[in-house]
Amino acid sequence: MRRILVTGANKGIGFAIAERILEEAEDTIVFLGSRDPSRGEAAAERLRKADNNRAGRVHVVEIDVGSDESVERSVRDVEEACGSERLYGIVNNAGIGLGSDDLDSVLNVNTRGIWRVCKAFIPLLADGGRIVNVTSAAGPNFVATCSPEKQAFFKNPDITWKEIDAMMRECSAISGDTEAFSSLGLGDGSPYGLSKACANACTIHLARQFPQFIINSCTPGFISTDLTRQYEEQSGKRPEELGMKTPREGAGSAIFLLFGEPEGSGHYYGSDAKRSPLDRYRAPGTPPFTGD
Ligand SMILES: NC(=O)c1ccc[n+]([C@@H]2O[C@H](COP(=O)([O-])OP(=O)(O)OC[C@H]3O[C@@H](n4cnc5c(N)ncnc54)[C@H](OP(=O)(O)O)[C@@H]3O)[C@@H](O)[C@H]2O)c1
Repeated sequence: MRRILVTGANKGIGFAIAERILEEAEDTIVFLGSRDPSRGEAAAERLRKADNNRAGRVHVVEIDVGSDESVERSVRDVEEACGSERLYGIVNNAGIGLGSDDLDSVLNVNTRGIWRVCKAFIPLLADGGRIVNVTSAAGPNFVATCSPEKQAFFKNPDITWKEIDAMMRECSAISGDTEAFSSLGLGDGSPYGLSKACANACTIHLARQFPQFIINSCTPGFISTDLTRQYEEQSGKRPEELGMKTPREGAGSAIFLLFGEPEGSGHYYGSDAKRSPLDRYRAPGTPPFTGD
C-alpha cells in the first residue's frame, strides 16, 4: 500500500486531494492531516461513508503545520501507524492568508510549515517517494514585481533554506512597510505572494538536497474554497462567472505530481499540470515552460 500524508485535508483542496487519491489509486492509504481533530474526523467520515472500500484507508492525523510540537507529535503518530512500512508521499497543502497583512503568520504556515513537515517526515519517506507542495500562481506573480536581483534570488537553482530563512527574517523586520519592500526590490511585499514565492524556492532547495525523492510544487488554479470565499462574496458573482473551479478540479495538478510522470524534481507546475516559470504567470493551456 502507498501511504500518503495530506496536510490541511479536512476541507477545500486538501480534502479533494485526499478523496481523489483514494478514488484513483486503490493501493493507497491517506493520512488525513487536520489541525483540529474533530474537523479531521468529520472529513474522514465523509470519505468513508461515500465508499465502504475506503473505510480502512483513511487515518486522521492531528497536525498543525505552524507548530514544531504538533508536527513532532504527528510524526510519531504516523510512524506508529506505519509500523515497518514507509510513506510514499507527502502533500503540503495546508495554507492561509490570501489578503492577510499578518506576514509572520502567513510565512509560518505557508513556507516554514512546508519546511517543518519535510524535515520531520522525510525520514519516513521511501526512496522514489513524492513530495508535492501546493503553492500558488501568487508566487510567480509576486516574483514578476521584484527587481532583477530578487528575481534571480527566487529562481536560483542553488538556493539554500538558510538564504530563504534569512530573506523571510529581513521581510518580517519591515512587515507592513511597502516602501521598504519596494526599496529592497520586493514589490509591495504582499505576504501571501511572498510566502508562496519562498515556498517555491524551498521546493528547489529540497529537491537538490534530497535527490532520492521527486519533489515539486504546483498551483491548484483559482478555486472556490473558504480561502477565496471573501473575494467571491465581495464580487457578488457566482464562482463560474469568476472563472473559478471546484476543489476536485483544483486537486488535478497535485494528483499528477503524486502519481504521474513529472519532468524531474524541483519544478513548479501550473493548474494544468504543465511546467510553469517561477517569475511570471503562465496561463493553463499555453505552451509549457521549458527553461531551467
Ligand atoms: N483556493 C484557491 O484559489 C487557491 C489558489 C492557489 C493556491 N491555493 C492553495 O491551496 C491550498 C489549500 O487552500 P484551499 O483553497 O483549499 O483553502 P481552505 O479551504 O481554506 O483550506 C485550507 C486548509 O489548510 C488548513 N490549515 C490552515 N492553517 C493550518 C495549519 N497551521 N496547520 C494545518 N492545517 C492548516 C485548514 O484547516 P482549518 O479548517 O483548521 O482552518 C484547511 O484544512 C493552500 O496552500 C492555498 O494557499 C488555493
